[in-house]
Amino acid sequence: MSKLELGVCYYPEQWDPSRWRDDAARMVDMGLDWVRIAEFTWGLIEPERGRFEWGWLDEVIGILGEAGLRVMMSTPTAAPPKWLVDEHPEILPVGPDGQVRGFGSRRHYCFSSDVYLAEACRIATEYARRYGQNPYVKAWQIDNEYNDHETVLSYSDVARQGFRRWLADRYRSIDVLNETWGTVFWGSSYSGFDQIELPNGLVASPNPTQSLDFRRYSSDRVRLFSKAQADILRDHSPGRDITHNFMAGSFEFDHHDVATDLDVVGFDSYPLGNLLGSGLSDQEKHRYLRTGAPDYQGFHCDLYRSQGRGRMWVLEQQPGPVDWAEKNPSPAEGMVRLWTWAAYAHGAEAVMFFRWRQAKSAQEQFHTALFRSDDSPDQAATELKQIVLDRAALPPTKRGKAAVAMLLDYASIWAADVLPHDDSFPNAQIVRDWYAALREMGVDLDFVGPEDDLSGYALIVLPQSMIVTQQLAARLTATQAKLLIGARSGSMTSDMHTPPNLAPGTLADLTGVRVLRVESLPELANETVLFLGNTPLGFTGWREVVDTDQDVIGRFISDYCDGSPAVIRSKKATYLAMVPRRDLLQKVLRNALEWAGISPVDHGPDLRITRRGGLGFAFNFGTSALLLPSNGRRKILVGSDPVMPRDVTVWKEDVLPDQTAAK
Ligand code: GAL
Repeated sequence: MSKLELGVCYYPEQWDPSRWRDDAARMVDMGLDWVRIAEFTWGLIEPERGRFEWGWLDEVIGILGEAGLRVMMSTPTAAPPKWLVDEHPEILPVGPDGQVRGFGSRRHYCFSSDVYLAEACRIATEYARRYGQNPYVKAWQIDNEYNDHETVLSYSDVARQGFRRWLADRYRSIDVLNETWGTVFWGSSYSGFDQIELPNGLVASPNPTQSLDFRRYSSDRVRLFSKAQADILRDHSPGRDITHNFMAGSFEFDHHDVATDLDVVGFDSYPLGNLLGSGLSDQEKHRYLRTGAPDYQGFHCDLYRSQGRGRMWVLEQQPGPVDWAEKNPSPAEGMVRLWTWAAYAHGAEAVMFFRWRQAKSAQEQFHTALFRSDDSPDQAATELKQIVLDRAALPPTKRGKAAVAMLLDYASIWAADVLPHDDSFPNAQIVRDWYAALREMGVDLDFVGPEDDLSGYALIVLPQSMIVTQQLAARLTATQAKLLIGARSGSMTSDMHTPPNLAPGTLADLTGVRVLRVESLPELANETVLFLGNTPLGFTGWREVVDTDQDVIGRFISDYCDGSPAVIRSKKATYLAMVPRRDLLQKVLRNALEWAGISPVDHGPDLRITRRGGLGFAFNFGTSALLLPSNGRRKILVGSDPVMPRDVTVWKEDVLPDQTAAK
């Protein structure tokens, strides 16, 4: 049970020391609890190898702590200093174009470099020794945003060497590798591990098993890097929570894996920054240009809360326009507050705003903050006042378990990336679309990874699970839950082979389906599915021809195999032989919820309702006032019914009909 904690990202090194005391006092006055510092300070603390200048950071921590703030320290490994790069240029990452990425910004290191790993551990140990027992240091952030600037996949010489070692360890013999990769195809077999190259810069598409292995290898390197630092911090700073700030929409490494070594999973939330590059339609982008997508915050907070075993912090919250997206619009008035409460409602323990004061020089000068560079308050500082007032009106709560779980598996997303077929299979976007459609119906969700506990859910949805191991299939079969399984699930073995029994491979018994053929259609084909009713609805163009002896509850309308099964239901699982577009998706999900004993409520596109403990939260992303659903007794604690535009209503739930998990 906790109340919302608030914090700010602070860069004292960018300001004259004479301002630190006043900054700290104002942070406390404004109701902030946390201050996150130091993630890019290595070059300042150790200006040359072995010479440390701790004095200023000691002083800053003292000032912040004495003012009453809890300090979140960071290890500074996201920005190695120039002298280290000069000493060891081989630590630099290499892009897929073979170009070495140089010094002068950040994240200029390659996860494959053992030299860098040792250096990162050395500096993390220095920071941990210095501040691990400091009474004001209450938590640690490791590094900063692992895949920022797309640095997880690096094509360096050390990556090549590391990949070869990883493969030798995995396959033991080159014959096994040849067999597993299927290198007989195009005569690309190898006679030794030292012949293997990285899967970039080729004439045509690389071997998919090789590419998937490279993703696995790269993800393992992130885990190794992260865990090494977590272990050091645990040794030197016991009792302090350890976190890392994951990014939105980032699937390049296995976040389930990395989260295992963290106490709390962190997330950096930029709802507007991430809007224009998202998979939403132009119409939706227009509609939510100044609010961000209604499910941005919920999706990531639910995902990372689940990975954090219930514990999640927003470590950077967008305060106004950012400076790095395609275009950088201003949020509508009220949105910083709305995002903050949405994060809390979806399980965040704390929300920290990025950043205290707008930069006066160097990169990111256009990026807003709580205060402008002249110290005048900006939008987020104004909205923070209301957030603090709201907080006083709310009792502490904890988010409970949901009735519906969504399976998200990183290897499956990599698999569709390396063998896409074509763009009629939108891969990770499918996961987001299913999440959004469920949220529009008021459904609260947990995420589960392939290794997680699957018990206690009424419905488990698998929007995109290309790789389903025998063990996972057995565990899915053993749950009490009904299953909704998206197209292409189970269609590859862990080695990226077509399953011996064809797709959906390990899910064949559960679904009673055998996929005979896959085709993809251009938009102009305009084919549809008839599902429960007489309005044919569209799909993305990804279409499977299946053989089944189970109930067919949706059929293709087509000039090819007209009437063939599109939605198939067995006793326990519903299988989709296509990727439904929005209208069809909503219908299918609604039907699956009812089948699992859950009553969906239609909240429309702009209203989102969720529950945290005994509190109900409603968020209005639209431009007109929206009424709360009329059923249930409730006592409103914040806001009103109707929920005003870009506003938040919070109530104490007495008898609001709930979705209770299956027993
Ligand atoms: C994040 C990063 C921060 C800052 C911010 C600007 O990705 O972690 O250091 O650059 O973006 O929005």
